[in-house]
Amino acid sequence: MNNSKKMLLYGAAGYTGKIIAARAKELNLDFEIAGREADKIMALAAELNVRYHVFTVDNREAWQLALGDKKVLINAAGPFQHTAKQAIDACLLAGVHYLDISAELETYQLAESLDNEAKDAGIQLISGAGLFVSYDALIVHLAKQVSQPISLKAGFRHFGGFSRGSVLSSQNIADLGSLVRKDGKLIQSDNLDSKLFAFGSEDVECMPTPLGGIILSYKSTGIPNIEEYFSLKLPATQLPDLTQANLPDGPTEAERAAGRNGISAEVTGKDGKVVKAYIDAPSGYNLTPLSVVAVANRIMNDDYKTGYQSPGSAYGESIIGDIPDIHLHSIQS
Ligand SMILES: NC(=O)c1ccc[n+]([C@@H]2O[C@H](COP(=O)([O-])OP(=O)(O)OC[C@H]3O[C@@H](n4cnc5c(N)ncnc54)[C@H](OP(=O)(O)O)[C@@H]3O)[C@@H](O)[C@H]2O)c1
Repeated sequence: MNNSKKMLLYGAAGYTGKIIAARAKELNLDFEIAGREADKIMALAAELNVRYHVFTVDNREAWQLALGDKKVLINAAGPFQHTAKQAIDACLLAGVHYLDISAELETYQLAESLDNEAKDAGIQLISGAGLFVSYDALIVHLAKQVSQPISLKAGFRHFGGFSRGSVLSSQNIADLGSLVRKDGKLIQSDNLDSKLFAFGSEDVECMPTPLGGIILSYKSTGIPNIEEYFSLKLPATQLPDLTQANLPDGPTEAERAAGRNGISAEVTGKDGKVVKAYIDAPSGYNLTPLSVVAVANRIMNDDYKTGYQSPGSAYGESIIGDIPDIHLHSIQS
């Protein structure tokens, strides 16, 4: 592991990558950008006044050159089924901590499977360090309030629509069907109905949807029974051919500022005690950059655990304090 304080952002010229870069710049972090398309990367580098690297995700030599003096990588190039493996392998070889903003369970499981390799390389491996940072922190917060937490139900209210990249990646979530965690195992559930979750003054009906918690919050808390719900239908379940769809890059800055995300969760202990709380947060495409940069910032300040981690296993609920404009509220049962 090197003593660098520098970060590399791969996929920087994508819709979310650009917002991550803007956040890193706002915090004055020392970072460089990378991606596969020269025009886009060079234009962004000029705008940000940062160094850049142009290479495809399969170019191992280029990865090592770009990572040589870095401490942490943020991979923002999704769908991650096509980029996570190559980027993680490069980080393992270079001894550079790995973060991505994937919402694809497959990449969480990939990170999970590389726990020993990450420990040997002395790096922290977190796939899912975007929307699920505060989500996971909320679950850790609740799990600590009961003895032996045995069940979690979490509802995610999303605001701001979907970027083109998210629409494409949503197929990987839709393909999971009704995956839940039951008695510690991932199984298909055929009897889940939609469920009402409280988000302050508003109750929202959410549909059963496997999100990050069945892997990430299981890692953080060991809760053996986890069901997750989402306020919207996944785009992949509505659009017949995603590759042909004429999709906008993502919501405009004004659209992102016009509403809020919410995460509402209830945890039950073995003694039957139920605790509930919700988080009120900036809308999705503002929350993800704020979250992943907060985690990268921790790493640059030498706050990390080696091996496969979830946001909650690495930082507990304290990471909430690093993300601006997030508010955690208890819900009285
Ligand atoms: N859960 C969360 O917290 C969260 C939040 C936001 C976004 N996301 C995920 O983040 C990903 C990116 O979203 P986005 O809105 O930024 O999408 P986007 O605008 O389509 O950007 C994707 C970026 O990744 C690059 N890329 C894609 N496939 C690549 C490959 N095989 N090799 C190298 N580069 C590749 C693209 O490069 P080109 O420009 O050259 O195509 C582009 O720069 C999506 O998977 C999305 O679901 C997750």
